[in-house]
Parts: sequence; structure tokens; C-alpha cells
Amino acid sequence: MEKISIETNVQIPMPIAIVGTEFMGRPNFMTVGWITRVNANPPMIGFAMRPNRRTAKTIMQNKQFSICFPGKNLVRETDYVGMVSADVKDKSDVFKVEYGDLTKAPLIKEAGLCLECKLVEQMDFPSNTFFVGEIVGAWCQKDLITKGAIDFVKMRSFFLTMPDNKYWGFGRSYGDAWEVKTLK
Ligand SMILES: Cc1cc2nc3c(=O)[nH]c(=O)nc-3n(C[C@H](O)[C@H](O)[C@H](O)COP(=O)(O)O)c2cc1C
Repeated sequence: MEKISIETNVQIPMPIAIVGTEFMGRPNFMTVGWITRVNANPPMIGFAMRPNRRTAKTIMQNKQFSICFPGKNLVRETDYVGMVSADVKDKSDVFKVEYGDLTKAPLIKEAGLCLECKLVEQMDFPSNTFFVGEIVGAWCQKDLITKGAIDFVKMRSFFLTMPDNKYWGFGRSYGDAWEVKTLK
């Protein structure tokens, strides 16, 4: 198949998450697309943020945060907390909030899966800072566990593509992974 050269600032589909912090004694939430697991054991997860985000500054201070994965029911709220900064408007009442074991990692009640994280590393790059947190607590809505695993289809979690700036739900499964033993 013929390939053409395209600009290098390529965006791949991103799972959408919401990072929660405690700012001025209130919960604050920010949408994040640049997120990935970074270590297996102990479990760690990381995301890239512009350092001017209020959330980035708060993480540097508090050294802890939450990461929640919203479902289709929270698309509007997710978009909102990704457009409005806590520097301009208090976002503490956008979601119903609860807490796990950490005091500065607010969890979104309506989200299917929420993680509590302690900051372990911060890496500064030219335009973004990459934060790595150890997952010290994980909370999943009971009815979203199917055969002992998190059911992301049932959770209706979603992805972002850019530059068309669209949210996408899961499509069809293409098959089981770690199954193909030979191509012959
Ligand atoms: C879908 C979506 C994804 C986003 N992903 C990121 C991201 O990965 N990193 C980042 O720095 N900002 C990202 N943003 C922008 C922040 O969420 C936005 O600037 C937010 O208002 C910051 O809030 P805060 O200042 O209260 O922390 C995203 C926004 C949207 C709508």
C-alpha cells in the first residue's frame, strides 16, 4: 500500500480519563487524553500535562491524585472539566465525590473505575510534564465486574481522536489476544 509523508505531530486514539486533585480544600477535576500504564509491579500509571494546568501545580504540591475513567453518561461533564480551569471557575460540584484511602484524591461517584495514586516521578519535557503515580487503591462499580474482570464495554468508556476532536465508544472485538501460535 502506498504511504505518504504526513506531519510528525501525530495523535493516536486516546483513552479518556479524569485526574482529580484537592485544590484550596475542594476537589478539582481535569480531563486527560495522554495517559498510559508505565510499570507492572508495583502498578504505575502516567500522563502528560501542560505544567500551567492548575492540576499539574496541585499534584506537585499534594503528591497524590486520583484517575477516574468516565462512561458515556459523563461525556458532557468530561468535556467541561477539560475546557474550564479551576483558576477561572470552581469545578468541585461537577461530579458527586467520594474518597477512598487518600485524603487528596477525590473519586467520581458516577465513574465506573477510579484509581488512587501517589506521585512517584515527575519528568519535565519541553512543553509537557509527565507524572507517574503508583496505584495504591482501585475502585470499580460492582455491576461492572464480569467474570472477575472489569467490563469496559459495559462501562461504556470512550476514546478521543485528534485533530477531528471526537469522542468514540468501543467498537467490535477483533478477536482474542495472545492466542495466535502460528500463521501457517
Ligand atoms: C478531551 C480532552 C483531553 C485533554 N487532555 C489533556 C492532556 O492529556 N493533557 C493536558 O495537559 N491537558 C489536556 N486537556 C486540557 C485540560 O483538561 C484543560 O486545560 C483543563 O481545563 C485544565 O484544568 P485545570 O486548570 O483545572 O487543571 C484535555 C482536554 C480535553 C477536552
